[in-house]
Amino acid sequence: MSKKFNKHMVLIMAVLLVSLILTACGGSEDTSSESSIIEAIQNSGKIVMGTSADYPPYEFHKQIDGKDTIVGFDIDIAKEIAKDLNVELEIKDMDFDGLLAALETENVDIIVAGMTPDEERSKSVDFSKVYYDPEQGLLVRNEDKDKYQSLDDLKGMKIGAQKGTIQEDVANDIEDAQVKALGKITDLVLELKNEKIDGLILAIPVAEAYDKANDDITLSPHIDFGKEGGVAVAIKKGNDELVDAINSTIDRVMEEGLLDKFIQDATALAEE
Ligand code: ARG
Repeated sequence: MSKKFNKHMVLIMAVLLVSLILTACGGSEDTSSESSIIEAIQNSGKIVMGTSADYPPYEFHKQIDGKDTIVGFDIDIAKEIAKDLNVELEIKDMDFDGLLAALETENVDIIVAGMTPDEERSKSVDFSKVYYDPEQGLLVRNEDKDKYQSLDDLKGMKIGAQKGTIQEDVANDIEDAQVKALGKITDLVLELKNEKIDGLILAIPVAEAYDKANDDITLSPHIDFGKEGGVAVAIKKGNDELVDAINSTIDRVMEEGLLDKFIQDATALAEE
């Protein structure tokens, strides 16, 4: 009887010990995976952002001192995020529709690409707070400036939008529209100039930047598709500490009036 009791005790203690160890490991794993992305970023000395640098004044290519450089107010915000984390900023430029996959495969740490935090994307990534919220408009050739007076006039139109964007959805909602979706906005601008498409849906600040940089295309003064839902930084799911850190940088940048300055500077730089 007492032998049997001893056997049981040993078994119970063994089970208790194992479950204790498992709980302890599980617990530490949880906290370490939460803080580890910031730790990993700090250990590597850099934060890697993914972007699609075809989006002035947010992010675009510019010759600076004879060198091709990616600039824009998203880049300025990302530099502040890097500064607050005490690391360097590395930029990876790709097509917009490759960004979410790049984040999920950890090819980049964050996405800063004028990305709108919609429901669909929120299933696979987390978002910071919204830092900017523009309207959407239509870029057309100069001669068509007054051709489209209302959304009804767009029926059946050959219309372009960047692949994988909210604007592609807006285009698809236009009755009978023939939608052309491409990876790079710069290619869509060429399609517009070459009369392959007759309109290009863009956030208005971006449409204005392309308008100013090109003599033959202009923002339609009559068409407004409304807001797209603002833009935010995307972060891989389950990294709340990084989301918090980025949100406090965004708060600081807004409170210090830096965001307005970044937008003004980038808009001027895009026009040069
Ligand atoms: N805000 C839109 C979206 O999230 C378009 C963003 C395009 N960004 C870019 N860098 N090309 O779908």
